[in-house]
Amino acid sequence: MTDARILAQTMLGNEPYGLLIGEGWRPATGGGRFTVTNPATGDHLAEVADADASDVQAAIDAAATALPSWSIVPAPARAAILRRAAGLMLEEQERLATVMTLEQGKPLAEARGEIAYAASFLTWFAGEAERIYGMTIPASIANKRLLVLRQPVGVCAMITPWNFPSAMITRKLGPALAAGCTAVIKPAEQTPLSALELGRILRQAGLPDGVCNIVTCQDPIPFSTTIFDDERVRKVSFTGSTEVGKLLIQQSAATVKRLSLELGGNAPFIVFADADLDAAVSGALASKFRNAGQTCVCANRIFVQRSIYEAFAERFTVRVAAMQVGNGLDPATVIGPLIDQQARTKVERHVADALAGGASILTGGSAATPETQFWTPTVLAHATPTMLVAREETFGPVAPLIGFDDEAEVLGYANATPFGLAAYCYTRDLSRAWRMAEGLEYGIVGINDAIPSTAQAPFGGFKQSGLGREGGPSGIDEYLEEKYVSMVL
Ligand code: SIN
Repeated sequence: MTDARILAQTMLGNEPYGLLIGEGWRPATGGGRFTVTNPATGDHLAEVADADASDVQAAIDAAATALPSWSIVPAPARAAILRRAAGLMLEEQERLATVMTLEQGKPLAEARGEIAYAASFLTWFAGEAERIYGMTIPASIANKRLLVLRQPVGVCAMITPWNFPSAMITRKLGPALAAGCTAVIKPAEQTPLSALELGRILRQAGLPDGVCNIVTCQDPIPFSTTIFDDERVRKVSFTGSTEVGKLLIQQSAATVKRLSLELGGNAPFIVFADADLDAAVSGALASKFRNAGQTCVCANRIFVQRSIYEAFAERFTVRVAAMQVGNGLDPATVIGPLIDQQARTKVERHVADALAGGASILTGGSAATPETQFWTPTVLAHATPTMLVAREETFGPVAPLIGFDDEAEVLGYANATPFGLAAYCYTRDLSRAWRMAEGLEYGIVGINDAIPSTAQAPFGGFKQSGLGREGGPSGIDEYLEEKYVSMVL
């Protein structure tokens, strides 16, 4: 069966994918459409509407119109819609996961996991909607009363990435809707279908017209210019590269918008000699190769204490060499394709630089086939902190192993980067675990834990890895304004 036929069978109804603006689906004003392709096969999957600036403006109008009525819907009623949407996502998990694998390439088992992960943000923030507490503050004057109210920020724009096409939307949209904000979303052009499917589900769950608008487009510039120029858009949340994040910081100045930025990482994964070696090997495997290494939090540099370097390298390499590369729809696949040719070129460049600098290949090291985006999972021995593969985010299935002697040395290597999103440390020494947790300059630290991400915990980075936090109790603060009210009796 062709990819397009599998997709057709997964879609609810047989409508072409349009823009979700205000009261429903519509084509782009200029009639434009663009093609979504399967990165595993190169096959044409579907066509979606290609919005221009006037469509973005219409989406902002719809979100601004819906704001006054949505922001006063009682919190339990907002929460009920979010919980219903999460329930529908889980009911439709197989269908949504198939759509995701077709457009993004990740193995079906991972796509199923992402749908559950995405739904968990709606459920968690439904709970948070019911706990948007204000404050009273004791005044120093007898007839004064000091109060703090927490109110929705307003219309929020969200620019989301292709690596987690569903969860990176709900991690922003869940708290926004819970807080009483309305939204205009631009999903990545490579993976718009998961976003549009989520739009259908939110409507099915009873989300009122105009509260969530989804604008697909190929060129991000008209979208960002329109949202940043519009005074009614009070906040922009972006997940993507640090390079683009910096441009958005500049653009936000003109209308002083709030920003949440989840940007690049360069995660160190540190294995001490006192670690449980099998747990460290499994952890490194999970952290490095989830989504074919295309996650912002994935291990980018694996530091192994010299006394166990050979033993770790041997066990790790055996496991990596056994990973099956292929189409994510095949149940045996654990490594899908890279998202595009640009991604493959970067991986090639990093591996070539490492080899030129003296690293050697323990397994992998090349494309699985010359003409496609499949890269064989790779382990590089004798990598050094100065190689490109250790300085830049590779975003691919390449694991450089770097030796170190002691704690001070590895902490120095780990923190010597402008990035600070996630770091990992494997040790059985409790004191060392604390020292590392406190010394690593990162927003997320996994101690003997390779997959710390969860809806209940804050996700975000230090330094050039971003601004603000998504998820966890602080996730909803990003979508709330504090209003101080001072009252004389
Ligand atoms: C990301 O790569 O940005 C998200 C990964 C996660 O939520 O664990």
